[in-house]
Amino acid sequence: MTMHKDVERILVTEEEAREICKRLGEQISKDYQGKKLLLVSVLKGAVVFMADLLRNITCECEIDFMAVSSYSGAKTTGVVKFKKDLDINPDGRDILLVEDILDSGITLNYLKNVLLDRNAASIRICAFLDKPANRRGDIQADYVGKVIPDEFVIGYGLDYDEKYRNLPYVGILSPKVYAE
Ligand code: IMP
Ligand code: MG
Repeated sequence: MTMHKDVERILVTEEEAREICKRLGEQISKDYQGKKLLLVSVLKGAVVFMADLLRNITCECEIDFMAVSSYSGAKTTGVVKFKKDLDINPDGRDILLVEDILDSGITLNYLKNVLLDRNAASIRICAFLDKPANRRGDIQADYVGKVIPDEFVIGYGLDYDEKYRNLPYVGILSPKVYAE
């Protein structure tokens, strides 16, 4: 595959992404057998992962979306903004939060608390990527696709200023791009 000129190095290939979704989908299908699984994806970065993961889940489930933002360019602002709420009532549901990447954890910590306040029966986190180096506070993913080093990554849904989400792999963004 030809690499985009703004990508320094590929961290997750297309094939590896497929294998990750298969592995996580099988595990989730087992764990949520007979439960009221509601997959909640955080827009927009997680849409690609959600779509691939969903097709590997065999137990009964529903999906919904939320939108928040804490990023501006390549830096977190540390403040979570709530931009779109769920359509489905989370009361009594076994919720699996599907995220593109767990970085500081601020976003997921916030969402977890919001959903617990609304009486979700259970809440777990499934993150395609885990970047533990930046973690602030005590939050972990229950299902992790791949642990990655402390680098700003793009592709497979992840953006830099709304671009590169369409790349079918995850790559490290070349630092020359933010210097421009
Ligand atoms: P957290 O609140 O710091 O855990 O940030 C989570 C969100 O920040 C993710 O859903 C991404 O949208 C974004 N993010 C964190 N790290 C990266 C990265 O390396 N590339 C692109 N987006 C990122
Ligand atoms: Mg983002």
